[in-house]
Amino acid sequence: MNRFAVLVFTLLAVATSTAANAIDPTTAYEGQRLFVSHCQLCHGPDGKGDGPLARNLGLQMIDLTLTVRARSETMLRTIISGEGGPIVTGRDRHNILTDAMPNWGEVFSDQQIDALIAYMRFLGSAKHELMGDPEKGARLYRKYCAVCHGEEGYGDGVMTRLIDLEPADHTNSVTMNRLSNEELIAFILEGNGEYMPAWEGILERDEVEALVSYIRLLSQ
Ligand code: HEC
Ligand code: HEC
Repeated sequence: MNRFAVLVFTLLAVATSTAANAIDPTTAYEGQRLFVSHCQLCHGPDGKGDGPLARNLGLQMIDLTLTVRARSETMLRTIISGEGGPIVTGRDRHNILTDAMPNWGEVFSDQQIDALIAYMRFLGSAKHELMGDPEKGARLYRKYCAVCHGEEGYGDGVMTRLIDLEPADHTNSVTMNRLSNEELIAFILEGNGEYMPAWEGILERDEVEALVSYIRLLSQ
C-alpha cells in the first residue's frame, strides 16, 4: 500500500468510528433498558438477585454486582448468550451455566449483549445510586442539554461550533464519579460559569434527578 492509500484508509477508519460514536447502541444506558425488561425478573433491578420471578421459582440468585468484576468479557458473553459453553466445570458453580439462566443468544444482537455487559459493569463499579428514571432523563437531556453537551454527552454539541464554550464531558467516569448526586443536582439547578445555565424554575426536582441518573449511565 502506498502512503496515499494508507492515509485514505486511516481517514475512513476515523470517519466510521466517529459515526459509530454518534449513535452508540452499546452504552450502559441501552443495557439498563434491556436489563429492566428482560433480566430484573430474576436478577432484580440492581442485579442483587431479588427479582420477582426468581422468588416464584425459588431460585438461589447471587449478587451480580459482586461477581461481575471477576468476570472477563468472554465469560460474560458466554454466560448471557449461552453459546460456547459449557464454560468451566469444577468447584465454582457459577462457572457452569445453570438450566435456570435462559440462553439469550437468539434474542439479542452482539451489540445488545455489549450494552448489557456495560450495564452490569456499571452495576459493579457504580459509586452513586441511580436516583431517577433514566429514560425520562434521556428525553430531557436530548431536549435541553444535547445542544451543548452532545447527544451522547461527549461535550461536543452543536453550540460548541458556534461559540467558544467547553461543556463537561459526561462520559468521563473519573470526573463524574467525583461528584455526588446532590452535588450534580445543585450544579444543574444553579448553573456554573458563563455558559452552564441554571435550570432552577425550568426543571422540577424529579426531572433533575432523572437527568442525573441518565448522566451516570453515560459514564464509561
Ligand atoms: C428466569 C430467570 C433468569 C433471567 C430472566 C435471567 N437470568 Fe441470569 N441467571 C439466572 C440464574 C438462576 C443464574 C445462576 C445463579 C446466579 O448466578 O445467580 C444466572 C446467572 C447469570 C449470570 C452469571 C452470574 C455470575 O457471575 O455468576 C449472568 C452474567 C447473568 N445471569 C446475566 C443475565 C442477563 C444479562 C439477563 C437478561 C438478559 C439474565 N441473566 C436473565 C436466572 C435468570
Ligand atoms: C449553553 C450550553 C449548555 C447547556 C444548554 C447545558 N450545559 Fe451543562 N455545562 C455547560 C458548560 C460550558 C459546562 C462547564 C462549566 C464549567 O466549566 O464549570 C457545563 C457543565 C455541566 C455539568 C458539570 C459537570 C462537571 O463535571 O463539572 C453538569 C452536570 C451539566 N453541565 C449538566 C447539564 C444538564 C443536565 C443540562 C440540561 C438540562 C445542561 N448541562 C445544559 C454548558 C451547557
